[in-house]
Amino acid sequence: MGKQRGRRVSRIDQPKFAIVIDISSEDQTLKSKISRRNFLLGSSAVVAAGAIQGVPGSPFSPPLNFMKSALGQSSIAKPDSVIRMSGNENPWGPSRAALRAINGAIDEANLYTFFLHDEMAELIASQQNIGPEHVSVGSGSGEILKMGGMLASMDQGSIVIPDPTFEDLPRYAAANGSEVIRVPVNGNMETDLEAMASAIRPDTKLVYICNPNNPIPNIIERNALRDFVLEISRDRMVFIDEAYYEFVDNPDYSTMMDLVRDGHRNIIIARTASKIHGLAGLRIGFGFSHPDTAAEINRRMTGTLNIVGLRAAFASYRDVEHSNFVLRTNREALDITQGYLREAGIRHIDSNGNFTFIETGHDIDEVQARFLEHNIRVGRPFPPFRNWMRLSMAKPDEMRYFVQTYKKLYG
Ligand SMILES: Cc1ncc(COP(=O)(O)O)c(C=O)c1O
Repeated sequence: MGKQRGRRVSRIDQPKFAIVIDISSEDQTLKSKISRRNFLLGSSAVVAAGAIQGVPGSPFSPPLNFMKSALGQSSIAKPDSVIRMSGNENPWGPSRAALRAINGAIDEANLYTFFLHDEMAELIASQQNIGPEHVSVGSGSGEILKMGGMLASMDQGSIVIPDPTFEDLPRYAAANGSEVIRVPVNGNMETDLEAMASAIRPDTKLVYICNPNNPIPNIIERNALRDFVLEISRDRMVFIDEAYYEFVDNPDYSTMMDLVRDGHRNIIIARTASKIHGLAGLRIGFGFSHPDTAAEINRRMTGTLNIVGLRAAFASYRDVEHSNFVLRTNREALDITQGYLREAGIRHIDSNGNFTFIETGHDIDEVQARFLEHNIRVGRPFPPFRNWMRLSMAKPDEMRYFVQTYKKLYG
């Protein structure tokens, strides 16, 4: 569902047939969460949960230890395992409904997924109020991005992208022979639509827009983007990556889905189950485009969907409550982190996703190493922004530990 200017509404797409699952206690302590999950999932999942309990950053990561000093000041002890703040992953993992579906899907491991693939397209299409002929279901939205790169590079030529941005599409296009024209973000670190339009050449086959962008989590103003997309898509493809769409709480933002819905050609939109749904490891993503383009994409895709991922996505896309929980805790994590940064006067880009981008003033290689000593893994380098750090949101207490560590290292 969309959002009108000045009116804040939930960005979670409402399912037609909601399975309402009580997760009111989901934000209680992790320990009870684990045992509840194990109880719900049955004994085989208890074994599975036990097996991944110690995995850094898994939903089963242990709670942090809060300590009080002799002077009554509280602090958080260094955790035993590494907390991941590096991959823009969902720190809570899949919903309980998805976990139950995953458990059930093990018994279907002998089945091909032909029909489920179509059912998945139909569910997503109905939630987006669009025909299923517009939908491609990929092995992560990464596969849809690669298909965009492949279509663009079939007759060589060039593509235009903002810089920095998410590299899956340009990397694939370049590997297939496209020239990648990079357009630096402007002085406010925003995607520069004017400069991108000027960079287009007669041989430019595709323009890539990531909205919100990554690693810089800002958005493009909705009207400016709409004008740009309508103009540019007359002669070439515009690919809009909306991986973080559900997280945006900004009246200036809008998806461009209505343009696809209205039958415009030359527009592809990508969405993913990896972020708010916490299914990154199960590889489900979606493309939305004109039926002719969707058919082109579907003919070329090489990834095969697996039954576990599909069953998990079915459950998750019908579970609004879990998405709302993730949104709420992500907001809390951002408020803790960005609240500190604001207070301390540290420049950063206000987040429209589940990560922020911080000017630490120190080389990222050094910053990464120093945080790792405290069992925090922060984002990789994004040259030329070597003195900036992309920081993915973990759980609120984990972000409190991040702030404590930041103060210790650089405060
Ligand atoms: C902007 C953007 N697009 C796409 C993806 C890929 O997501 P998926 O897991 O669906 O391949 C990511 C992952 O980090 C991303 O940041």
